[in-house]
Amino acid sequence: MDPTQVLEEAGQAHLVEHARTLPDEQRDAFLAEAAAEPWEELRAALKDEARRVPELRPPQALTFGRQANEQELVARLERMGLGLLAGGRVATLLLAGGQGTRLGVQGPKGNVVFGPEADRTLYRILGERVAAISKRVGKSVPFYVLVSEATEQATKEAFAASADWGLEDGQVRFLVQGTLPCLDDEGRALLAAPGVLARAPDGHGGAYHALLEAGVIDELAAQEIDVLTTWQVDNPLGRGLDPLMLGWMVERKLQAIGKAVRKATPDEKVGVFARDLKGKTRIVEYTELPPAPEATPGEAMEAPLVMGSIAIHGFAVQWLKRMADEGMRLPLHRARKKVPYLDAEGALVEPDEPNAWKLERFIFDLFPEAKRAEVHEVRREWEFAPVKNAEGVDSLATARVLVDAEVRRWHAERGLDAPETPSLRPLEMDGPR
Ligand code: UTP
Repeated sequence: MDPTQVLEEAGQAHLVEHARTLPDEQRDAFLAEAAAEPWEELRAALKDEARRVPELRPPQALTFGRQANEQELVARLERMGLGLLAGGRVATLLLAGGQGTRLGVQGPKGNVVFGPEADRTLYRILGERVAAISKRVGKSVPFYVLVSEATEQATKEAFAASADWGLEDGQVRFLVQGTLPCLDDEGRALLAAPGVLARAPDGHGGAYHALLEAGVIDELAAQEIDVLTTWQVDNPLGRGLDPLMLGWMVERKLQAIGKAVRKATPDEKVGVFARDLKGKTRIVEYTELPPAPEATPGEAMEAPLVMGSIAIHGFAVQWLKRMADEGMRLPLHRARKKVPYLDAEGALVEPDEPNAWKLERFIFDLFPEAKRAEVHEVRREWEFAPVKNAEGVDSLATARVLVDAEVRRWHAERGLDAPETPSLRPLEMDGPR
């Protein structure tokens, strides 16, 4: 179909009008590019029914290692996980395509210096962790890093030093996620500049589509890799290759597993694990949670959803492949954000308040597709130090305090002196608990 017609039918006639103002050589490319966007899917995501959250119940969460009689089970599962890693059956994907707007740094969050030394960036801290487990099991774990237009260049430059972190040549591969147009309230695309749509990365769920497009899921399956784990760049305590989680996946023949911690406060900004009425495990982002129902005196209440996701997941590769073969697409979610745009007179407006919708996919929307998905409750102090905001809660300052406390606790438990700079977390802390 003619791009002009596609755009008019998609409610984007203003783009056709805009194209008329462009020089000849730019016009056709702009129209062709704009017409190729998934307009129907984008506009549907703005509507109410796309955002209805199903009725939810608390999930069943499994915890290990808290009871004395579980130690044997933990040790057995860890051995299984280590066996999987040693057999080359695991790959990992670090999600690092976000724009870090709340943190307000230039460039990728992964390049933020966590310290204590000036060269200890988040990328380095997490990269060293992949190197250490690879060394421990004697097998180089394929390490994918999801980047976006906003983070690709600087991330590749940072990883040029990854041999110093212990990573092998060829161990790291980059995946570039897609972008989607930003829309106004009427579902019309905004322009960032003449002939350029305002765009944003398609969310961490863009990882799934980027994996498909790059043929990585087929490649992993061909290499007989059983599990792909995913984790985030903004958690310096994150353990994306945790043998215990991997062992549990094998033991329970799971298609998906996610780590959870009990929410610290009812309004903590984390997604929560839940079960829908069909019994499917899912994660609901905090921005989309319906308000908690008011308690009625004298009436029993369903326990609230307290299992917060720390965004560390394991997915069975054969299952990912089957879903891909069936053409599964992750749904789009909308988020109100500040998006600079060209007004009708062609002047660039920098809004002070959120003015437009960004559309994003979430990696955890894979969960409700799984027949066998479980929630693995872990200790918050072991594994969760989020770096989201410039100040206050979930900032670099709070994350450093959490890492310090964890390093001190780990040393004290072993009767060792804590290092002088405790936020330097020794790699042995990834060993058996
Ligand atoms: P967040 O949304 O919490 O972080 O993403 P952000 O996008 O970097 O920061 P804000 O929201 O703009 O302040 C959680 C994780 O998902 C990755 C991020 O890099 C982070 O590790 N992510 C997010 C992507 O890989 N791609 C995206 O499009 C969005």
